Amino acid sequence: MSTQFWITLSISSSLVESMIMNTLTATATAHPNIAFIKYWGNRDDTLRLPQNNSISMNLEDLYTRTQVTFDLLSTQDYFSLNGQPAAPNALERVTRFLDLVRQMAGKPWFAQVTSYNNFPMGAGIASSASAFAALSLAASRAIGLQLSECELSRLARRGSGSACRSIPGGFVEWQAGEGDADSYAFSIAPAEHWKLVDCIALVQVTHKPIGSTEGHSLAGSSPLQVARIADSPRRLMICRQAILGKDIESLAQVVELESNLMHAVMMTSKPPLFYWEPASLTIMKSVIHWRNQGVECCYSLDAGPNVHVICTTSSAELVKTHLLQIPDVNQVLMATPGGPAHLEQA
Ligand code: PMV
Repeated sequence: MSTQFWITLSISSSLVESMIMNTLTATATAHPNIAFIKYWGNRDDTLRLPQNNSISMNLEDLYTRTQVTFDLLSTQDYFSLNGQPAAPNALERVTRFLDLVRQMAGKPWFAQVTSYNNFPMGAGIASSASAFAALSLAASRAIGLQLSECELSRLARRGSGSACRSIPGGFVEWQAGEGDADSYAFSIAPAEHWKLVDCIALVQVTHKPIGSTEGHSLAGSSPLQVARIADSPRRLMICRQAILGKDIESLAQVVELESNLMHAVMMTSKPPLFYWEPASLTIMKSVIHWRNQGVECCYSLDAGPNVHVICTTSSAELVKTHLLQIPDVNQVLMATPGGPAHLEQA
């Protein structure tokens, strides 16, 4: 028999083997996260290397579940989101990301990506974080790569910066690092460490007009960004200590300061970005008032008008009841600290 025949036979038998072993398809679930110390502004937009470390908490009750199947006969990628073919720009972003995975694995295969979110997208609930964390795990596994948590976090970062924080579980810090190799996230405390609750007041669930990728590139145009970054090591230290010591009062002060600082940068960039709606401000002022009356809670907003109210377990139901009494609050989602991105059984 010719050498050609043996090569063909061994290639196809390894393919059959991988199909039998189910390595061409994988499903992963990841949770979005709420940043206590925010990521806003990159040193390198392509590699998504941030200007400062950030700290977040994964949100257990919300998730993205993504199945990736590499199809050896396909000539292009497919992406469906919540049962519908994804918009062309979303497909393009997924394809660019899959190119990285294909490059890492040295395989040219196209993929079928099916994704489902159980929460509204593009409204300041970090759907891109859970989306790219789930995609990193599912795609890398489906193509046959076995990446460590750190490698997965670095990969997820390339899809959306905050996605690197949805790979490890619980309370997570993303170290800015010097470059691609050391810019990844790790857990600073597991989900069980502190049973906080994030009550997310939904005031608007339409897609935000300016996404965070564009927003990061505008951060440097605000004269306030330099001061925000320069003071960040101090706020990071307070936040880490508050989490480790379960100190809600200290956490509340630093989380609200952080949210206000990021939005001050957003509002003073060129062009200015206004993510708040009138109801967002009403909620923020109410949260401060409730806290002054002894309710353990604080607010934080990402790039959208919906307000995350972080509270202790004992305050959660009262906070939810209060929030639902505010006009324009349509719904309150509740989420406890979440675990890491994980594979689903085939
Ligand atoms: O990961 P991106 O590019 O969607 O940026 C996230 C930015 C914020 O959500 C506003 C802050 C953060 O740290 O999550």
